[in-house]
Amino acid sequence: MESDGNFHTLEYRDGALHLIDQRRLPGEESYIECRTEAEVADAIRTMVIRGAPAIGVAASYGMAIAAARSAEMSPSDQAAALDAAAEQLAATRPTAVNLFWAIKRFRAAARESGSTGKALAEELLELAHETHREDIAICRRIGDHGAALLPPGSSILTHCNAGALATAGYGTATGVIRSGFRDGKVSRVFVDETRPFLQGARLTAWELSRDDIPVVLITDNMAAYCMHLGRIGAVVVGADRVAANGDVANKIGTYGVAILAREHKIPFYVAAPLSTIDMDTPSGAGIPIEERSPEEVRRVGGELIAPEEVEVFNPAFDVTPAALVDGLITERGVVRLAEGESLSPLFEGSSAS
Ligand code: MRU
Repeated sequence: MESDGNFHTLEYRDGALHLIDQRRLPGEESYIECRTEAEVADAIRTMVIRGAPAIGVAASYGMAIAAARSAEMSPSDQAAALDAAAEQLAATRPTAVNLFWAIKRFRAAARESGSTGKALAEELLELAHETHREDIAICRRIGDHGAALLPPGSSILTHCNAGALATAGYGTATGVIRSGFRDGKVSRVFVDETRPFLQGARLTAWELSRDDIPVVLITDNMAAYCMHLGRIGAVVVGADRVAANGDVANKIGTYGVAILAREHKIPFYVAAPLSTIDMDTPSGAGIPIEERSPEEVRRVGGELIAPEEVEVFNPAFDVTPAALVDGLITERGVVRLAEGESLSPLFEGSSAS
């Protein structure tokens, strides 16, 4: 399966899902092996793997593994095992809708398949491989649509990691950057460090450097000044869930970057596959926002940087209103929504909803 920068975000072989351990990057490149759906769920919960599309693909393999582990059971026990796996996977992280999209896809496939036992397990494994391959192809299409928006030599600001590590490969926002760099549209990338989990500093800077794309790392509070200095030509970020009206949930801090971009008249683009669009959620107000451990804020690299007992608020995501988004870059092209419009036309003739 494809890699970018010579690593695999996820790879299924020898009956196990192998994941690069993203918690240890950039210091250590090590892989963990998941042989059960519980291990896949644990890897998602503990951020071994993160990023909306990557979580969706991992959950797909989780469902396939559950089908294989229950292949010798009666059809009704196998169906119950798949239900339990779906529940376990769904309970890991609440915001990225690709997780629920993947679970729904696998439940429907199991229900609609005439097969049971080993044959069903084989079908679901093939569907997981297909979901994996599809995600890479979709990211490449997003990359090319996005690159076409950029003037030559653009300097891009991105937030968090929406790269090969956050997808099955190539990336969404980082896919736009990769395609843009290839086409001479991108000259350098400013990367917000992305407190508190540091996905920008630890993951995006690592990924882009491995592809020899020029990176400038800044702390989150430097973005406004970089814009003021005229160093940023466009902002490109990913998404964890896009509501039907185009509101975008993405890594905490994205909303602030969008406001800054509008103030400085810099285009703000969101790159995301159709599987990240949640047509069942009318607006951003309905998107569940994960809150994470206070320890992520109180500490940096395990080191206490605040009073041990200080109260902390640690939302992992925020919501950027559709009005601040100058273009949603999908595998089907770029959408600009006027007020009151919906993303539903994107799904015409698609099986992705
Ligand atoms: O908490 P994370 O690291 O899973 O959050 C990831 C993001 O917010 C990404 O920007 C988003 O999932 C897009 S990934 C292509």
